[in-house]
Amino acid sequence: MCGIIGYIGERQVLPVLLEGLRRLEYRGYDSAGVVFLEDGKINIIKVKGRVFDLEEKIFSELPKNPKSPGLGHTRWATHGEPSDENAHPHFDCKEMLAVVHNGIIENYYELKKELQERGHKFNSATDTEVIVHLVEDFINQGLDLKIAFFSALKRLKGAYAIGLISKENPEFIMVARNLSPVVIGLGEGENFLASDIPALLPFTKKVLFLNDGEVAILSKDKVEIFDLEGNRVKRDPVIITWDLASAEKGGFPHFLLKEIYEQPEAIKHTLLGRVDLDKRDIDFSKEGLEKEFLEDVEKIFIVACGTSYHAGLVAKYLIENNLKIPVEVDLASEFRYRSPLINSKTLFIAVSQSGETADTLAGLRLAKKMGAKILSICNVLGSTIARESEVVLYTQAGPEISVASTKAFVTQVLIFILFTLYLKKLFYKENEKREKLEALIKLPSVLEKFTKEVHSEVKKIAKKWYNVGNCLYLGRNILYPIALEGALKLKEISYIHAEGYAAGEMKHGPIALIEEDFPTVILAAKETGIIYEKTLSNAEEVKSRRGPIIAFVSENSEEFKKLSDDFVGIPLTFYEFLPIFYVIPLQLFAYEMAVLRGCDVDKPRNLAKSVTVE
Ligand code: M6R
Repeated sequence: MCGIIGYIGERQVLPVLLEGLRRLEYRGYDSAGVVFLEDGKINIIKVKGRVFDLEEKIFSELPKNPKSPGLGHTRWATHGEPSDENAHPHFDCKEMLAVVHNGIIENYYELKKELQERGHKFNSATDTEVIVHLVEDFINQGLDLKIAFFSALKRLKGAYAIGLISKENPEFIMVARNLSPVVIGLGEGENFLASDIPALLPFTKKVLFLNDGEVAILSKDKVEIFDLEGNRVKRDPVIITWDLASAEKGGFPHFLLKEIYEQPEAIKHTLLGRVDLDKRDIDFSKEGLEKEFLEDVEKIFIVACGTSYHAGLVAKYLIENNLKIPVEVDLASEFRYRSPLINSKTLFIAVSQSGETADTLAGLRLAKKMGAKILSICNVLGSTIARESEVVLYTQAGPEISVASTKAFVTQVLIFILFTLYLKKLFYKENEKREKLEALIKLPSVLEKFTKEVHSEVKKIAKKWYNVGNCLYLGRNILYPIALEGALKLKEISYIHAEGYAAGEMKHGPIALIEEDFPTVILAAKETGIIYEKTLSNAEEVKSRRGPIIAFVSENSEEFKKLSDDFVGIPLTFYEFLPIFYVIPLQLFAYEMAVLRGCDVDKPRNLAKSVTVE
């Protein structure tokens, strides 16, 4: 996720910006840059690489008299691969303005076209650059900077935290927020802005939080906040009492928990620019996924490892149910050493958070050699798998720091939901029902509430079970991959032996394990009709052997309430969204069990975040 630091005041501007950027490094980034005033002009120094590389570059260029206001940025690429040109800050045409941005401008494509037609010259492939040209365009029309800034914001759709400085108006920094965080640090005769508290902690603990749709104007001596219509907003300062370690984790004790709680936001970002409720439309064409590319596809292979493989298994149900195209899902390490039947009518989909997993990459190269069309679902822009694919659909989950994957998984599932609905529209001319799209748009807010509520329930249950040695996870149909994912989460972070199984397979072996101190986690959703009934029978089989049951089941299931030892109710939803609703409590369950066992939750033993060797 991009990081922003900004400063206006009498201190040496570069040390403040660099210190702020170092404090934001934990968020993950691929390039870094700063902008400041120097002898009546604006100077930008930026580089692909680390903050350390930026420091070296600054040192080699030795700016003569750097002054505030200044802005710094660490970039996590979303539009345009990591490079010096795409690093922030960005100039307008005349190098009078400079901008840094965190978020995604959903309508950047249309805006860029429009601005180019009016003669604006772009130097990067980013969505961000449209912001500064748009402000410039309004200034060209005779507006002053402040009004131009407000006017530009009204044209932007999407998520943004923006900092903008001007050569002509060095007495203030313009700041705006919509869906991406901004915090303002208050000092004596100086003020700061940042995307996150850790960047401010070396300088001040007194902060103001901006809300969505608000603008702040920072000068040395004051901070003014407005809504988009220019009305003043009053905001009281807050004193931060966190230390640096907890500030990096946003006040959460672990990155894993922070990332579980970030899932609603990750979903919101992944939906941006892809779903239009008014037109009841889902669109991937701007990302290169067009009808011609898919037209003669007769079979789909989905290849991935670990959690990403489980997202692939979910996709099999979604795609086969809706599109009637056969789907094979393979573990990449198996796929690459068998003889898959692939030809030019095969669509190969690689799923990878990192985009660097060695086996998945090898599978992709094999499929490419055999003539398949290559699509990938990745979280890291410009990663090897993304670069080697014909089409990439990015999950906009932001960097995942904890080794155990959570928000990447839910956004992978979300991409598969959108992919299925998009193909339904392309090939069957079926626009999705308005209610389903509305539910899709509301997912982030519904899940935010659900995560909080279910967390406290799951915490109590974990206290009861954290000493067990084994745990069986059962699910059927679209919840079978979620049983696998729940078991993977538990084993990798709590080191409890856990197995995920298709509930109907239980009698073919695992039933022999059932005894009084061997809990079975059962997933069942009323939305699945007969499958729910079948899972209930499997639960009876466990119970009649005195096996304890921890049920994650539809909230209106009286049967499971009676049968289970512990019951967690899951809200009713559309079939497609079940995996997302059911995986969240399982992630929290694994997390709480691991914490109670004293495990290193964010860095489980023997595991690496990105497995780049076979
Ligand atoms: O980066 P990828 O999605 O390709 O990584 C695949 C697996 O290594 C990864 O999902 C792993 O299983 C995680 N530790 C699961 O939490």
